[in-house]
Amino acid sequence: MLTAEMLESIKKVEATRSERMGMEPRRMTAEEKDTLLKQFHPDYRQDGFAEIKVGPNKGEKAPTELANLLHSNSRLHGVPIDLNKVDYESDVLVIGGGGAGSSAAIEADEAGASVVMVTKLRIGDANTMMAEGGIQAADKENDSPVQHYLDAFGGGHFAARPELLKRLVMEAPDAIRWLNDLGVMFDKDESGTMVTTHGGGTSRKRMHACKDYSGAEIMRTLRDEVINRKIPVIEFTAAIELIKDDRGQVAGAVLQNLETNEYLVARAKTVIIATGGAGRLHYQGFPTSNHYGATADGLVMGYRAGAPLLYQDTIQYHPTGVAYPSQIFGALVTEKVRSLGAMLVNVDGEAFMHPLETRDVSAASIIRECRERGKGVPTPGGYGIWLDTPMIEMLHGEGTIEARIPAMLRMYLNYGIDMRKVPILIYPTLHYQNGGLEIGGEGYTKVIDNLLVAGEAVGGIHGRNRLMGNSLLDIIVFGRNAGKAAAKKAKEVELGTPTLQHVEDYAKALADAGLETGCVSPQILPDYAGGRHM
Ligand code: FUM
Repeated sequence: MLTAEMLESIKKVEATRSERMGMEPRRMTAEEKDTLLKQFHPDYRQDGFAEIKVGPNKGEKAPTELANLLHSNSRLHGVPIDLNKVDYESDVLVIGGGGAGSSAAIEADEAGASVVMVTKLRIGDANTMMAEGGIQAADKENDSPVQHYLDAFGGGHFAARPELLKRLVMEAPDAIRWLNDLGVMFDKDESGTMVTTHGGGTSRKRMHACKDYSGAEIMRTLRDEVINRKIPVIEFTAAIELIKDDRGQVAGAVLQNLETNEYLVARAKTVIIATGGAGRLHYQGFPTSNHYGATADGLVMGYRAGAPLLYQDTIQYHPTGVAYPSQIFGALVTEKVRSLGAMLVNVDGEAFMHPLETRDVSAASIIRECRERGKGVPTPGGYGIWLDTPMIEMLHGEGTIEARIPAMLRMYLNYGIDMRKVPILIYPTLHYQNGGLEIGGEGYTKVIDNLLVAGEAVGGIHGRNRLMGNSLLDIIVFGRNAGKAAAKKAKEVELGTPTLQHVEDYAKALADAGLETGCVSPQILPDYAGGRHM
């Protein structure tokens, strides 16, 4: 049910629509973007960050909620664990049951390694499943990986690690082929050619999609493949600490069965952290588009074992999260809605920005429109900006919304809002962690032997801002690579005596820094009940 104020504003949106249909809002200059970001992007709010006091990134800043987890004690602090009583043994231990973990497990299995996958929820319960708009790959004649690289490098403020971004774009076409061969049902035209669209900041149409269920379709396929290969998947069991050996190599992980609370030991020659993002930490009080499991567990475990973070201070706020209705506050409204032509419009019906600026610029622009210019539309949770969805069918014909973004249509119809007829209200939502554990081009952390990272837990692939569709891509590219690399490496690894000494050393560093918070980490699940991780 739309409020009277919203209905009044919709009249203004309708009144300007035909004039707006014929125009393309101007793009901002580089200087305008810089000024905007500094004033309005949440990454620049000093009060949202804290200094890290211990570990490899000591002295750097991190979102306060993440810093608190890094300043917490291990769940194993003071808990005796017999590391010689081994419950699972494998060449490769994959921590995380999303797209990156599944891709890694499939490739490691394909290479002949024994694989165990552990996930705190069920395989597929992950941000991959929530992804909507698509996956980028430069596989059309008018495009090239170099062009893809330039778009992503610029969009990420020239901060991406070149060796990582190069791998991402070069291996993208093969990632699409691999997924297609596994059975992903990409959108194709009558000739069988994949349909591609623009995303924010792309110079070519290279977004491959499965309507707006892209992540769900990719995850369905990967999950089926893991199951068909009979790879053991330990569900409802969280990895809570890495195990190292007396030579400093990673040697497995301590797990906790979340139903029985029993501790378990998984011994492995190589370990792949694929634990995903951190949206459920709700940085700066933002709602999130993320899955319930997104609590930065891999970052905490890797960091406590000595692996540095990179760009932990840069977060992606997706410009278009649901602002209304409240029941789906923060849920993702895919960028594809703007790719298909919907404009961002303020309370007075004015298009105040180009709809396909990069995400950080778009989010900051929406925040400015509401906070500084007072041009947001009041909602029960604050305010929102219109995404003028009826434009889509006026541009592309009746039936386009149902055919191309059926998930969006269905989500809003559930609440009595028909986006074909009325615009929808959006506001930025916490979507992605640009930062994570630092890796080299082969996927290994730089300081702990045999420890690899893939997917959203990696920092540096995208720099300080990610373009749409490059995350579904990175989970496949870096997941596959990690699986292949781990399987190869496992053949030559000899493990020494297992130890959790790093956990005790970290506890001492916390105590020496006067950090007795009484909290434990990793967090494992969101804290909605209050004090769950205390
Ligand atoms: O807008 C979207 O569909 C999100 C895509 C992404 O984060 O890559």
